[in-house]
Amino acid sequence: PAARPLAGRHALVTAGPTHEPIDPVRYIANRSSGKQGYAIAAALAALGARVTLVSGPTVLPDPPGVGVTRIESAREMLAACEAALPADIAVMNAAVADWRVAREADQKLKKEPGAAAPTLAMTLNPDILATLSRHAQRPGLVIGFAAETEKVVEHAIEKRRRKGCDWIVANDVTGGVMGGDANTVHLVTAEGVEDWPELPKEAVAARLAARIAEALA
Ligand code: C5P
Repeated sequence: PAARPLAGRHALVTAGPTHEPIDPVRYIANRSSGKQGYAIAAALAALGARVTLVSGPTVLPDPPGVGVTRIESAREMLAACEAALPADIAVMNAAVADWRVAREADQKLKKEPGAAAPTLAMTLNPDILATLSRHAQRPGLVIGFAAETEKVVEHAIEKRRRKGCDWIVANDVTGGVMGGDANTVHLVTAEGVEDWPELPKEAVAARLAARIAEALA
């Protein structure tokens, strides 16, 4: 049993960017490879959890032993997450676009000679992490991420409170983290802050999965 401490548990993981359509050929997105989230999904599965990975567009293959739902927009991601409930664990790693284009055009916007560039009116996307944190079927352990470029821990502590989640994994994204293979994170919980050393994304995932198993034991 010690080797599969998450057997019988359902974990929901989001990863990758979301794509918010402008018209049939154009979109707005965040920069995200999905590597960290896919590694977390794989690490949770390796500890015996049943894992649902809700992923935005990435070039990564499905992690072995993980159920993958591929979506494009933030609204689709929220719907897929809600459809996956109930879950014991939610790890919201996706780089969700904060805004979407208010009115998606059903035909490609045309670049007419001499015409001015279009102005895009934007509207707020749902916050998936905050929604799940306050959901009637709230998972027992809800974990968010915070990609920051300054005052990393300070912002993460504030974000944990504001989002209503249990833990925040905070990372400084000023280096080569985006699309890179290593990550330096701080785990912010109700008890305090743990500073982890720089590790390959797979090792961050394994350590996080082990901490999750410990918390649920
Ligand atoms: O507010 P911010 O985007 O910095 O928060 C990051 C955390 O919130 C990440 O865990 C991310 O997956 C989640 N998030 C979300 N839905 C949004 C925006 C962020 O789930 N619309």
